[in-house]
Amino acid sequence: MKLLFVTSEMHPLAKTGGLGDVSHALPLALHHEGLDVRVLLPGYRSVLSQLKQVEPVCTLDALAALQPQARLLSAQLPGTRLPLFVLDCPALYDRPGTPYQSPAGEDWEDNPQRFGVLCHAAAWLGGPRSTLPWHPDVVHCNDWQAGLVPALFKLQEGSGARTVTTIHNLAFQGNFDPAWVSRLELPAYSFHMHGVEFYGRLSFLKAGINYADKITTVSPRYAQEIQTPAFGCGLEGLLQHRRGDLSGILNGIDSAWNPGRDPALPARFDARHLIPGKAQNKALLQRALGLKQDPAVPLLGMVTRLTYQKGIDLLLEALPELMRLPLQLAILGSGEAEMERRLLTAGTTYPARLSVTRAFDENLSHRIIAGSDLFLMPSRFEPCGLAQMYAMAYGTPPVARSTGGLADTITDCTPETLSDKTATGFLFENPDAAALVTAVRRALETYAVKKSWRPLQRSGMTRDFSWSRAARQYLQVYQTL
Ligand code: ADP
Ligand code: GLC
Repeated sequence: MKLLFVTSEMHPLAKTGGLGDVSHALPLALHHEGLDVRVLLPGYRSVLSQLKQVEPVCTLDALAALQPQARLLSAQLPGTRLPLFVLDCPALYDRPGTPYQSPAGEDWEDNPQRFGVLCHAAAWLGGPRSTLPWHPDVVHCNDWQAGLVPALFKLQEGSGARTVTTIHNLAFQGNFDPAWVSRLELPAYSFHMHGVEFYGRLSFLKAGINYADKITTVSPRYAQEIQTPAFGCGLEGLLQHRRGDLSGILNGIDSAWNPGRDPALPARFDARHLIPGKAQNKALLQRALGLKQDPAVPLLGMVTRLTYQKGIDLLLEALPELMRLPLQLAILGSGEAEMERRLLTAGTTYPARLSVTRAFDENLSHRIIAGSDLFLMPSRFEPCGLAQMYAMAYGTPPVARSTGGLADTITDCTPETLSDKTATGFLFENPDAAALVTAVRRALETYAVKKSWRPLQRSGMTRDFSWSRAARQYLQVYQTL
């Protein structure tokens, strides 16, 4: 079977969050399972500057009306044999900033064109017009940025590969002015409620859900949640309608997230040799962040996009109460300007106990996850969440809201789960500051009892979060097509 995996991010070439991690690890895991998989991604500046041995494949003349100068390049993911198709189109992708935004934090105005062209390139590759010898049987489309691909197969190409749409986050839908329907060469008749239209706009994600042969999301719990008004972001009706084709496959974590051989860590450790290495990471982290160097005080870590999804407002509300508890908190994050500002202000209020780093820093993220005692993730919703799995693998039990993939990956600490050694963290139900504080208190009580704490850490560290399980589940989905 030949698979084309279409994504707008891929670690380490371009990453803003978990999609980048998944788009790196899942195709590699599928490649190891023997699948002939190729990844298509935009040739952002950061992508082209990191790739070696890039070969031109063809010009995309079929896209000339959308964008005059687009061509496909082939390359391999650095350090691997995984083949990539890079969509080279400097007018769209050779820019500073993130894959979606300018350095000032504004969405690029031509995002519908930037990702519409990506979708057209994927549809060309998987459709009857392609002149290449390699034809995918299945195209795996990720998030709204690839959402038009299934629609283009059904509406324009007439035939071609089968499609899977994976929803990593239903809150990002790619909804744009209806003028884009004709600009992106979608037929006018597709602009209706059973097509690509969503509340009067062109919706990339709705198109992806409507026209895909199969739909997946990144945890079983989220697959259920998105069929309800509370989590469905207006698409719950459509998702219920398509529930027979919808499933949840839990993400894994990349084997590089291993505290026993992580080059970012000042000291390595594993489940059997835990204590001195973990303590050294903590001490050096406290020093680097300007926190009081105290081995006994519990250090809570957070590495996150700063958005409403991640419950940053809950944290801000809980902060005065949390700062009355004997703990330290280290936050690494970037995102919405107002949340960044409020957190940085709070950091100056509690200088020796609260450290706030406003950045996207891969290296520091590893050191916070390794050096903290607890990891905080008060998400309002969480399709899967990878950071809590990294934290468990690094002996840092999470304190998290019981939602989506957090509920599916964390076993809450109770007298029963503590005694049978299955507990891996602390979950709370209500999305409010009081519930968050109560969960943190509960975690601190357990932390104080070392004969409970070590098994809790070890149980998270020895969980199987490998990608091979997920890869086999995706293979099963592809095979049904
Ligand atoms: P999401 O994709 O919703 O942001 P995930 O938990 O699935 O949430 O994945 C987030 C990924 O991005 C993790 O690899 C996390 O470590 C990383 N990350 C988030 N914010 C930062 C940051 N400020 N610096 C470095 N890495 C970050
Ligand atoms: C999204 C979700 C996150 C998930 C990630 C990878 O960004 O917010 O929960 O882990 O995608 O699937």
